Amino acid sequence: MSIVESLEKRRTYYNINKELPVREDEVIERIQELTELVPDAFNMKSARVVVALGEKQNQLWDAVYDAFEGQVPREKIDSFKAGAGTVLYDKNVVESFQKQFAFYADNFPVWANQANGMLQLSIWTGLRELGIGASLQHYNPVINGKVHELFSLPDSYVLLAQMPFGGIAGEPDAKEKEDISKRVKIEK
Ligand SMILES: Cc1cc2nc3c(=O)[nH]c(=O)nc-3n(C[C@H](O)[C@H](O)[C@H](O)COP(=O)(O)O)c2cc1C
Repeated sequence: MSIVESLEKRRTYYNINKELPVREDEVIERIQELTELVPDAFNMKSARVVVALGEKQNQLWDAVYDAFEGQVPREKIDSFKAGAGTVLYDKNVVESFQKQFAFYADNFPVWANQANGMLQLSIWTGLRELGIGASLQHYNPVINGKVHELFSLPDSYVLLAQMPFGGIAGEPDAKEKEDISKRVKIEK
């Protein structure tokens, strides 16, 4: 599959279930592979990924519901809990880089966010190549404390995004094509 075909297939899948079309270890391997391949500024490897599966997946979404004290509808939370797992994306800014390159110190957290976005898209697309649907959610920072506790994460980790994934139970509506010349300017 070409990169264009893979990106075309990657969509926001809200309708997911626990029936993965591949073995769980293939999913884990794909996530590990992509985490290694995606670049980062100064090769600082700031991205951290937690893959919640099985009972941890259920506990995670129950914790999200609790953190919002009922302000997010139970059905919405349950639609994410219905998936087979969730990829939690954290950044771990490397202080030693900030000290070593003091003139760039403020840029490192920004670059860590950018590198994390690259990883998020890669995993989102890589999962779809395996026939798995996912979406990107942002219940941080409200849930950060509970997530740190549930997964025993170091204080240096900052939670950036949550990607519930699972078997595809329904396709999203087709997206409208746009006039791309409004966004991509070509000059010679
Ligand atoms: C940086 C970023 C943040 C997003 N945050 C959310 C979110 O918090 N909740 C959500 O349901 N979708 C979120 N989305 C998904 C977008 O709404 C979605 O990608 C967009 O509407 C295009 O649809 P598609 O993913 O099907 O191509 C996010 C996407 C990106 C790239």
